[in-house]
Amino acid sequence: MCGVVGIVSSTRCVQNIFEGLQRLEYRGYDSAGIATLFEGKIHIAKSEGKLKNLEPLLSKLPQNSGIGMGHTRWATHGAPTTLNAHPHVTDEIALIHNGIIENYRELKETLIREGVKFLSETDSEVVLHLLAKELSKGTAMLDALKGVVKQLHGAYGLGVMWKGDPNSLYIVKQGSPVVIGLGKTENYFASDALALLPLTQKIIFLNDGEIGKITASDVQVWDFSGKLLKRDPSILNWSASSADKAGFRHYMLKEIHEQPAVIANTISRLVNFGSSEINIGELGLNELDLQSVRNIIYVACGTAHYSAMIAKYCVEQMTGIPVSVELASEFRYRDPYLNQNTLVIAVTQSGETADTLACIKHAVSKGCQTYSVCNVRFSSIPRACQATLYMEAGPEVGVASTKAFTSMVLCHYLFGMAFAQEIAKGKSGNSDNNLNATDKKVASRVNFAANFEALKVLPSLVDRAINSSGLIEDVAVKYYESLNCLFLGRGPSFMVALEGALKLKEISYIHAEGYAGGELKHGPIALVDKHMPIVAIAPLDLHYEKMISNIEEVRAREGVIIGVGDINDSKLKSLSVDFIPCPQSQDSCLQTILSVVPMQFLSYFIAVKRGTDVDQPRNLAKSVTVE
Ligand code: G6P
Repeated sequence: MCGVVGIVSSTRCVQNIFEGLQRLEYRGYDSAGIATLFEGKIHIAKSEGKLKNLEPLLSKLPQNSGIGMGHTRWATHGAPTTLNAHPHVTDEIALIHNGIIENYRELKETLIREGVKFLSETDSEVVLHLLAKELSKGTAMLDALKGVVKQLHGAYGLGVMWKGDPNSLYIVKQGSPVVIGLGKTENYFASDALALLPLTQKIIFLNDGEIGKITASDVQVWDFSGKLLKRDPSILNWSASSADKAGFRHYMLKEIHEQPAVIANTISRLVNFGSSEINIGELGLNELDLQSVRNIIYVACGTAHYSAMIAKYCVEQMTGIPVSVELASEFRYRDPYLNQNTLVIAVTQSGETADTLACIKHAVSKGCQTYSVCNVRFSSIPRACQATLYMEAGPEVGVASTKAFTSMVLCHYLFGMAFAQEIAKGKSGNSDNNLNATDKKVASRVNFAANFEALKVLPSLVDRAINSSGLIEDVAVKYYESLNCLFLGRGPSFMVALEGALKLKEISYIHAEGYAGGELKHGPIALVDKHMPIVAIAPLDLHYEKMISNIEEVRAREGVIIGVGDINDSKLKSLSVDFIPCPQSQDSCLQTILSVVPMQFLSYFIAVKRGTDVDQPRNLAKSVTVE
């Protein structure tokens, strides 16, 4: 989604704004622009397409300007043309916007009746003219912004530069993310802290309903009523180098390779093998009233949603508490039955996904307890929840999620164990006040000793899964021209099938579908013929024999099986046209972390062979901050 960045510096700003936009590229965009203010005049450079088209235009901007703003646009209203690219400008003002102004049509019609001429098809230009109208009355910028926000419906992160106050940038946040960064001799704003990482790690995370003003030496924040607020910066623990490619060809490949370290760090942070306990403080569980939880609802989008579907398997089994999983975009528009005994858990890498955030706000309004599993500290969703389990996976830049998915699954598993541990201690639970009886119930459900053993060896197994990638490249070379692909799995591996299909379609644009093996006969088998590759995920778990039957059904119809399973599984090998070995865990939920690695590599190598843009696939955005 759109990215915004602004700098007020005592020296030059253009190059740093451009580099800030480069760090926002991962969000997904299709045009870009920069505006600066120099010697009383606004200068702009805008272009369609990627930043490489904008770069040659930068020389036309005054190089000594110390104040400016840049924008990457992910088109919503109006095609991705230069005219629709931001910043939008009048003689006096430049404006950039991330979000959607829902009532822009009404506002635009009124402005047109008043004689305003629009240059673009965007909803954002409406804000520019409303602001110009307020300022033309001689109103100060803060008051003008207060007047404008009263008229807007929707979500917006705005950046404003004004000739009338040439050493300041103004920022407005409502619904879309904006942060302020504090430098030594300059200050910044951006749609996320990642854009500012090499410049500063001191970040003020604006809340909805706040207006900021930055100069080179000062930062002020007000609420929409004009009350001055005291806002202290948070210090980020991400290093600048964690956001580069570290010698890998793509961010996605780097992030796939980071998984063993991420998994190992999470386990060492959250698991105390000495006392065989999960560190519930680190999970934020002390902030929740576990005792009163009678049902758990996960809400999430995309890859995070598939991770939550795995949580349904492990968390429900471990805790004995009913778990349901909903797409955030559906949950928020129905009228779910919620009460104070419901724990709503948001799963989100970015912490900014608009639909997931809306679900949490709704859950809070219904008196539910709220929790999140999130990768980005201080982002909007954790701030809206009672407690958060941070994944600490480091920045994920590739649009197709990899390390965030495996990290989420591990977090769900540890959450389930921690909850079960607390039930066993009698601190929570859904039914039983009798400690011994509760203890027994949990013990019959959860084999803690086996779980700890499975966790101990997990990082080295993930490492092994990554080291078999050479073989997968050969498989990719065989199938990269396929038009369709099916993925099949059963039990938790069903979600690996869903995630494998999602990865493939996201970055290679091959049509792919994930199915539960048991559903094969209920439709997808009609698609099977000798042109259809079918990735069959068949680990040695309790679903294995059923998967083998499904594989036989596919073979009987000449479908091309790509088997993914244990290296010593001669049966699966003999049934497969191609075979991808995958290390095996004793735990079927943790197995998904291992089985998904070949899916990531397969889609990666196929995409590279097809020559697509692996890190920024067409039409997709990393951070979906509009509905
Ligand atoms: C976008 C991304 C996906 C991601 C989804 C949810 O669609 O491209 O990779 O899974 O948003 O994002 P979140 O940040 O909430 O996990």
